[in-house]
Amino acid sequence: MRILLIGSGAREHALARALARDPQTERLVVAPGNPGTAQIATNLELDVLDGAAVVAAARDVEADLVVVGPEAPLVAGVADAVRDAGIACFGPGRAAARLEASKAFAKDVMAAAGVPTALAHVCTTIEQVAEALDAFGAPYVVKDDGLAGGKGVVVTADRVEALAHARACLAKSRDDAATAGEPAVVVEEYLDGPEISLFCLCDGRDVVPLEPAQDFKRLGDGDAGPNTGGMGAYSPLTWAPRDLTGEVVERVARPVVAEMARRGTPFVGLLYCGLALTSRGLRVVEFNARFGDPETQVVLPRLESSLAEALHAAATGRLDRLAPLRWRAEAAVTVVVAAHGYPEQVRKGDVITGIEDADGLAGVHVLHAGTATADGALVSAGGRVLSVVGLGPDVPAARAAAYAGVDRIGLAGSQHRRDIAAGR
Ligand code: AMP
Ligand code: GLY
Repeated sequence: MRILLIGSGAREHALARALARDPQTERLVVAPGNPGTAQIATNLELDVLDGAAVVAAARDVEADLVVVGPEAPLVAGVADAVRDAGIACFGPGRAAARLEASKAFAKDVMAAAGVPTALAHVCTTIEQVAEALDAFGAPYVVKDDGLAGGKGVVVTADRVEALAHARACLAKSRDDAATAGEPAVVVEEYLDGPEISLFCLCDGRDVVPLEPAQDFKRLGDGDAGPNTGGMGAYSPLTWAPRDLTGEVVERVARPVVAEMARRGTPFVGLLYCGLALTSRGLRVVEFNARFGDPETQVVLPRLESSLAEALHAAATGRLDRLAPLRWRAEAAVTVVVAAHGYPEQVRKGDVITGIEDADGLAGVHVLHAGTATADGALVSAGGRVLSVVGLGPDVPAARAAAYAGVDRIGLAGSQHRRDIAAGR
């Protein structure tokens, strides 16, 4: 199979790594890719938000499959353009990607499909926000309606902070094309209990779940500090209820995929179910329309079956013919090394050292995210710079490997959590 993979983060490096070692993969091109993907595939400079440019590149590569990693090209309609050109594409079209791009839309689909989620008010004025906050009480949950890279949510006991965030969201979303409607902010009931991420491959009709993972969204140890795109993850979740995956597929993924098909906008690609196991049962926190970052970094190394074949089956409506996925018994932990100032004021251009050293350790591999080469040196070029992955027979062993790797990395002012998968 010849594959064109779109994106440039550690998620795409993890996807590229899984595809590159897959015997089904004949050729792998990553656009634009990063210095890490350049070592295992061919990188291609490309405006990934330009559907026509992606189609041209896919034709050039003679791609049998295009895999879209990030949300921005999906929301821009790149998957529609690729499919319209008669090329198989793993990734939802613009209309189906609204499950991620608009929280209000996702709530509407969940209501129609009978999917359990937090009660929510979609507010268009600050007066409605104030009313909703008082109706739910503290802790307050206020969400930007549009895309915010996991950083648009404020969970706080402070009513003033909640109102301030709502005001900022309402002002910002006025010129946010993704919401394509009235500026809105979502105020929700607070969900207690641990969160899990479950990825489901979808072909518009059928659903095949991957193994669940847990993400650490806050910047600091002990879940202190602001929300980020994710600072670390691990899999498997030995503590999770045995029937969890089945329950999510039956109560969440299948009803949503059926509802999207009913609306004439079938969901083809990855439905990321962000879930809370609350004291009142399973609730959906959010959907994403793509693989999670950094969860992908711990899910894919555990997959024994062919990833290329699974993604192709989803892209071509043939998940019903896919053999059951096989998983390795090993565990995986990833720790994100973020730049100085992340998530607010990211500093770029710091020299990165120690990657080869870390890669040389047993069970450790380093994935690039925000890196670039400048004057022959590898430097930081984004908020999340690297994802260090440790593999081992169980989570504690994988965790020890990941941190041994992190400790080899040199990056001035960098930040990472020390408590990823601690006590698991
Ligand atoms: P979202 O962008 O909706 O995934 O929210 C980002 C993060 O904010 C989630 O992963 C949770 O940690 C937190 N969060 C979102 N909604 C809620 C909620 N209703 N109750 C508690 N925490 C939430
Ligand atoms: N790790 C959360 C996300 O990918 O949105």
